[in-house]
Amino acid sequence: MLSSFLLAWYDVHRRVLPFRGTKDPYRIWVSEIMLQQTRTETVAGYYTRFLERFPDVFALANAPEQDVLKCWEGLGYYSRARNLHKAAQVVANQYDGQFPASLEALRALPGVGDYTAAAVASIAFDLPSPAMDGNLTRVLTRVHGVREDVDTPTVKRRLLALAQEDMPQTRCGDFNQALMDLGATVCVPGTPDCEACPLRPLCDAYAQGDAEDLPVKAAAKPPKEISMAVALITCRGTVWMTQRKEALLNNLWVYQLTEGYETQADIDKALAALGIRASCAADLGSARHVFTHRVWNMHLFHYEAEETRCREGRFVTLREMTALPIPTAMKAAREQVVRLLTPRFELAQEAMLPALSAVWAESWKDSHTAFCSAEFLQKHTPAYMEEKLRAHLNAGRQVYAVGLAEKTVGVMILDPWANELNALYLLPDGQGRGVGKAAVQFAVETLEKARPMRVTVLQNNQRAIALYHQFGFTQIKEVRILDEKTGLAEEDLIRPAQGEKTT
Ligand code: ADE
Repeated sequence: MLSSFLLAWYDVHRRVLPFRGTKDPYRIWVSEIMLQQTRTETVAGYYTRFLERFPDVFALANAPEQDVLKCWEGLGYYSRARNLHKAAQVVANQYDGQFPASLEALRALPGVGDYTAAAVASIAFDLPSPAMDGNLTRVLTRVHGVREDVDTPTVKRRLLALAQEDMPQTRCGDFNQALMDLGATVCVPGTPDCEACPLRPLCDAYAQGDAEDLPVKAAAKPPKEISMAVALITCRGTVWMTQRKEALLNNLWVYQLTEGYETQADIDKALAALGIRASCAADLGSARHVFTHRVWNMHLFHYEAEETRCREGRFVTLREMTALPIPTAMKAAREQVVRLLTPRFELAQEAMLPALSAVWAESWKDSHTAFCSAEFLQKHTPAYMEEKLRAHLNAGRQVYAVGLAEKTVGVMILDPWANELNALYLLPDGQGRGVGKAAVQFAVETLEKARPMRVTVLQNNQRAIALYHQFGFTQIKEVRILDEKTGLAEEDLIRPAQGEKTT
């Protein structure tokens, strides 16, 4: 009776889900593993992408574990992905790629517990095995009036026996999925919608009026709070990352973590053990991530390392970082890393000129010292540079402070009238970190593409000239002598008009 009411309801009210409508055990197994502790809405996108990347059990078995973890990134409970990968290898190698059609053999696969074995057995092979998840437990305790702690082994056995009695001869997969859908949409935790329920005539809890109090559960232990320092260690456009060895988030990539952090000395000790010499550049505030049994209370710091040598882990660029599987617990840290490694261009206001002229004077000196006379150098004091910056502003040019992490590392001047990149100077702290390239990219995007673009560069700055060549600038043999004594000269490069894009 229960199953006929239930299946009639399911035929009309079943949820449309991307993993339904297949009998392929591989697909059903992937979906059931993903659905453990995860909402159906979250799983939908992952499921489709995962199957595009790993369309059958051999594709999954033969993939590197890192690729599987990358596809799982953000879904959590990563041991599921590692076990999925191992189980695929068992099915590929020991079963010739055919999933075994028995509850016991399915149960023996890595990561497959009672619930998943029963779900796959019933949905793929129509075996009469109740898939006892939270939904089935809730619906059955209410219908059958089970009023004891559902987490005890005796009550679990009793519920399984009740479910087995309710299980029909055929449509076993539909029976399980109907109970799941009923539990997810009608017989929900808290206040169920008993008026809409097909099992109301049979429901003990409805008759007794205590459906809201079921199932009975012992109070859960609160998760353990853990203090964690997250050091974002950067060095010349890269950030240090390591693959975790611990069971939690095993094999995923994280920044430097110091568990049980109390003081800065704890981080320094951890860095020394890694053979990394770095100093703290900024306190970046806090972030929190809740796992099932623990909470990470994270404190984020920016550290700057002198060199990329280290005993463990490695320094990666932003581009390399995007290819690594990184857990959601690192979301705030990852956003900070992107910010720390991405150059900024801020239009300078009057009040910024004194500080900016000091940066300009220093970077100017850095790029000219080798090439010009002491007399010429001495002229370019911060005060002189400030006057020049002011003159640029007054002439309608755009003066930009080039920022990286916590610092101002350079000055860029654009002339929108002449369509010219007038000056680009970087301190040593801003060199060799992709800042120059980002600046030229910014200039090319900011100035007018439909007109020729001009840039002035010191003739002996071969690195800068090579960079401009990358962006399509060419030399036009216009040279101006700057310092008669040494012959120091600057020259112009031109980038032709890019022409209107046709659509
Ligand atoms: N939750 C876990 N497995 C499910 C399934 N097959 N249908 C609906 N919800 C589920």
